[in-house]
Amino acid sequence: MNVRVQPSILSADFVNLQADIRRIANADGVHVDVMDNHFVPNLTFGPQMVGRIQAVSPIPLDVHLMISDADRWAPGYAELGAFSVTFHAEAASDPVALARRLREIGSRAGIAVKPGTPIEPYLELLPEFDQLLVMTVEPGFGGQSFMGDMMPKVAAARAAIDASGIDVWLQVDGGIALDTIGRAAEAGADTFVAGSAVYGAADVEAAISDLREAASRHTH
Ligand code: DX5
Ligand code: ZN
Repeated sequence: MNVRVQPSILSADFVNLQADIRRIANADGVHVDVMDNHFVPNLTFGPQMVGRIQAVSPIPLDVHLMISDADRWAPGYAELGAFSVTFHAEAASDPVALARRLREIGSRAGIAVKPGTPIEPYLELLPEFDQLLVMTVEPGFGGQSFMGDMMPKVAAARAAIDASGIDVWLQVDGGIALDTIGRAAEAGADTFVAGSAVYGAADVEAAISDLREAASRHTH
């Protein structure tokens, strides 16, 4: 199984974003956290900024929408050319229709669940998605502690993906660092978002390859 590391620019320097994105050029993608101060109690940026990030990034954009009314807003991010657009199950009234729309525009479609949201109802929709995101913190802020009690949810998703035979990426986001990534990989995650563990490191490139290596060691 391939292991992917996607640094979150939530922990980057927002006034030097282009430079900070260049620093992670050895990563598999750049994780772009869009927050609307409504779905989550924090605010980042919207389509205008993501369009500029798309224009300058040397690596694919993994957009994570933490916004209400995803049905209305998510397609715009696919139209900007993002490689992948993930919306929250809690914020979409018709997840299947939205996923189909994202794919039709040309982006991968992802669905995310908050820690309190069960994954089971979405596992039967696997063929509609390219990525499942199991949040390992309450969405909204970087630098929070990894919730190890989400690992059964990751394992359930892994079992369903394997049983389906469909190549759906299983992503974890929140508190991923060298001391936690192994547990998430062990449970079956293959795509890892890390904000503070990457941008907080003295050597950002080395932090990315160390995380990738640690995840690979724990991947079945
Ligand atoms: C949290 C965001 C994450 C965040 C992760 O709501 O979705 O992507 O940047 O940050 P760390 O890795 O510091 O927990
Ligand atoms: Zn995120």
